[in-house]
Formats: sequence, C-alpha cells, structure tokens
Amino acid sequence: MNDSQPAIEVEGLSKRFDATVALDDVSFSVAPGEVRALIGENGAGKSTLVKILSGLIRQDSGSVNLFGETVAIGRPARAHRLGIQTAFQEMTLVDDLTVTQNMLLPYEPAPVLGQIDRRKSRRLVDRHFAELSLENVDPGALVGELDLSTRQKIEIAKAVSRQPRVLLLDEPTSTLSVSDVDWLGELIEKLSADGVTLVFITHRMAEVRRFCGGLTVLRNGQHAGSFAVDDVSDADVVRLVIGRSLGAIYPEKENYRLSDAAAPALAGKSLSAGGQLRDASLQLWPGEVLGIGALQGMGQLELFEALFGVTGLREGSVELDGKAVTLTSPADAVRAGIGISLVPEDRKSEGLFLSLSGAANASIPVIERLATFGWIAREAEAAAVDEVLERLNVHPRALYKSVSSFSGGNQQKIAIAKWLLAGSKVLLMFDPTRGVDIGTKHEIYILIRELAKEGNAILFYTTEIPELVNVCDRVLVMYGGRVVKELLGDEISEENIMTHALGAPAAEPSTPHGETGT
Ligand SMILES: Nc1ncnc2c1ncn2[C@@H]1O[C@H](COP(=O)(O)OP(=O)(O)O)[C@@H](O)[C@H]1O
Ligand SMILES: [Mg+2]
Repeated sequence: MNDSQPAIEVEGLSKRFDATVALDDVSFSVAPGEVRALIGENGAGKSTLVKILSGLIRQDSGSVNLFGETVAIGRPARAHRLGIQTAFQEMTLVDDLTVTQNMLLPYEPAPVLGQIDRRKSRRLVDRHFAELSLENVDPGALVGELDLSTRQKIEIAKAVSRQPRVLLLDEPTSTLSVSDVDWLGELIEKLSADGVTLVFITHRMAEVRRFCGGLTVLRNGQHAGSFAVDDVSDADVVRLVIGRSLGAIYPEKENYRLSDAAAPALAGKSLSAGGQLRDASLQLWPGEVLGIGALQGMGQLELFEALFGVTGLREGSVELDGKAVTLTSPADAVRAGIGISLVPEDRKSEGLFLSLSGAANASIPVIERLATFGWIAREAEAAAVDEVLERLNVHPRALYKSVSSFSGGNQQKIAIAKWLLAGSKVLLMFDPTRGVDIGTKHEIYILIRELAKEGNAILFYTTEIPELVNVCDRVLVMYGGRVVKELLGDEISEENIMTHALGAPAAEPSTPHGETGT
C-alpha cells in the first residue's frame, strides 16, 4: 500500500446487463481520506459501480486499483479482505434475525461446542454501538420490526464496525430521518479524519456540500466529470447530472384560490390511529396540493395509512365529498366512487409487486374493471396503461419488464400510474420523491401541479422541506400526532415549517383552513 497513490482508481470500467450499458468506460480516482460524492440520475450506474467495488458483480472490462495496486475483486469476501465495506442501497439485513445477529453476519464469534456465544456477540455489538452513538437501538430487536431509518443505520454500522479502509455508502440518506442524517454526517467526519476513504451516493446537493470534498457525476453510465465541491455551483451540477439545464426545478405555483366546492374532497376529523396519531383534523380541497410537514414519527405515516384504510381508526371519522365513509382496507379506498390512492413510502415492499411487469403493476387497482368473465382483457389493459405511461414519460419497454429491474424513478412513476389508471380524485403521496433523481423529481412536481389544476386533491408528505415550500398551496405542520399549524401563501417558509415541526411555539391551537368549528 502506498499513500501517495489514489485510494481508489477506476480505469475504463464498463459493464452491461443485456442491452443496458450500465457503465461505459468510466475513469476517475479518489484520494486517501477523501469523502467523494457520487451523484447522477436513477439508472446512471452508481450502484453498479459500487457493486463492482464490493465484489458483488464483475466488470466486463477496465480495471480497479486500490492504493496503487491493481486488484481483481470479484467476490465480497475478497473486497472485505482488501478493506472495502459497503452499506447497500437495497439493505442486506435479514428481517427475521436480531440486530445483534445481523451485525455479526456472516462473522459471528466461532461457535463453542456448537453453541454461538450469545453474551460475547452481545458484548461486541454493544461496544460497536457505543462507539457509533447508537445506544438507543435495541440489539435484541428483530430487524424486521424496526423503521427504515434505523435499519439503514444498522446497515451502515455493520460496515463501519469492520474497520474499512474504503467505505461505500449507496444512497443511505434516502432512508434516513433528518436527525439520522446529522448522525451520519458526524460519523463521516470522524471516519475521514481517521483516514478512511469514503464514496457517498446521494441525490441531495446540500449533503454533498456538507459532507464531501469532491464530487463525481455519472450520466448514462458515463463519467460526466469530477470536481472539488467548492469549484462548482448547484446549477452546474444539475446540468451535468441531467445533461441539459432545467429552467427551474419547481414549476410555477398557481395563485392559490380557496376551492368553491361544497365540501372538501377528503376530510379527517379528530383522527387517532396507531401509536402516534392523536386527534388530528384536516380538510383537503379539490384542486389543491396540501403539504404535511413533520419530523419523523409525528403521526404522519399513521395519518396516511388511516386515510388509505391500511390502519383502522381508534377514534375520529373520514369524509369524502362531505359523506362519511368507512375505510376498512385499501380495497375500499381505491374502489371506484371513492377513489383514494396512496403512493407509499417503501415502494419496494408496499407499492409494487416487483416481479410483475410494469403494466401488470400499473393496472392492479383497475383489474376488476378490466376483467371480463374472470380473465383480464390484455388488450384493454395494455391500451389503458400505454396512455398513462406516455403521460408519465415512462419508456414503453416498462410494459414488459419486471418492475424490480427499474430505476427508483421509474418505479415511482409506475406507482403514480397505478393511481391515474384507477381514476382517483384524491391522491395521497407519502414521500414520493425519496431516492428519486433530480430529473424525475422535476417531472413529479410538474405532474402534481397538473393534476391539481385538473381539480384533483393531493395530500403530499415529504421529508424535504424545500419541496413543501415550493410545491404546496397550503401546509399543515404536525407535531405529537396532531395538526398544530396551518401555513398559507408567504407563511410557507422553511423556517416556519421547522419552527412548528419542532413544537417550538408553545402549543398554539390549530386553525386548519375551513375548520368552521363544527
Ligand atoms: N441486475 C441487473 N439486470 C439488468 N439491468 C440492471 C441490473 N442492475 C442494474 N441494471 C440497469 O443498469 C443501469 C444502471 O443501474 P444502477 O447502477 O442501479 O443505477 P443507479 O444506482 O445510478 O440508479 C440501469 O439502467 C439499470 O436498470
Ligand atoms: Mg442505485
């Protein structure tokens, strides 16, 4: 090993999957101890590069040099021996095992007389967790019962605990809560100070500027450029990422006008559900984009699930167009005449059937409508889906490929297509732009705006506060399971949202628009 050499140097790296060129002659290098951001649209080849460096897949051509030596990685065990560890985008944790068991996989302390020494395992993990400020994670919990953000922290902790020289982080912040992003920032700083070389994939420029010294842009599998972070503007980076300049990332807001509909499209009255939603009320009007601002765990997920019929209500009632409805399952919510759809948080497990084709996925809610005599009219399905995919700018190839091979952006578009096909007038979008690249985000914003203009009602939760500010007509801030603040027009600012999301102003009474005190 030689410290005057780059820690990582890839030269002419290429990889194809059938007809898809995932990496096309990519060359760049990363200095020892550097934190390098790797950015690019969904499908740009970032994960493919990470998987090659992790030994999960092999390149078709090109070479990888580590600290001046050409290495053939090829297998995960070899990557580990070379000091490369990875927190993967599709996390590698096993749901049915405990946190401790996952942390030690596949290297549990050697069994003694056929018995794994549980206390020794536990002590090891406790020590790692203390070093990583993870004391509040229960090492005995089953991973499948933890929220996404905590699972992502364990995925990262597992990689870090093996003391890598090179740490690859594939889009960790897409699943981290705001405070956990801060946790990761501190960890990155500490590791880099200790001389660890990091490659950090993210879609957020703010994180690139906070955590990284350099950035590398991939576009369509090609190296579009590498820079010191301070040498490029955000606009330069966006242009490199999408290969053209975007006039503006956010579409113009319309002048917000109160709907003159007789009743809200959807109303929730004093809703309580799950462990976190307590007495929340809201009214969603036709033609508006209503934002929900909240920090992690303030009842927003339960609110969306209750409105979609996934979680039963402990108290409160839901009205559609002024009429009370009982939603006992998502099937009630998507049924024609009710027409609520949810674009969910974890689209990998909740929103889509990954092994089915895009067409089959998009038409699931309408399958009953398209079915005749028990079988689905394939032509009707294809025609209906075609029209919607064209509107969403999804490649027609999507019709025949399984959704698991899509990029995150296209998966999200298919999740939205489902809703368009179902003909719903109310759309519940829970963090729809998470893990989505900037070009696709732009398309989703435009689509949301168009749908609102057509008179649909959209409830929109996002962890990215600038999206609330720039996309929503109204914002309701939730704290402690309730709606604590309504923001309108110029009041919708990052500062106002954060102030109320932190519960800062002493419990002001909520005054959602249109709540006439009934
Ligand atoms: N196992 C695979 N089989 C087929 N195509 C794949 C596979 N993995 C990735 N791809 C394709 O390669 C391209 C790059 O994907 P990926 O590296 O995951 O992009 P990113 O991580 O930048 O979003 C995409 O077009 C993707 O669909
Ligand atoms: Mg990826």
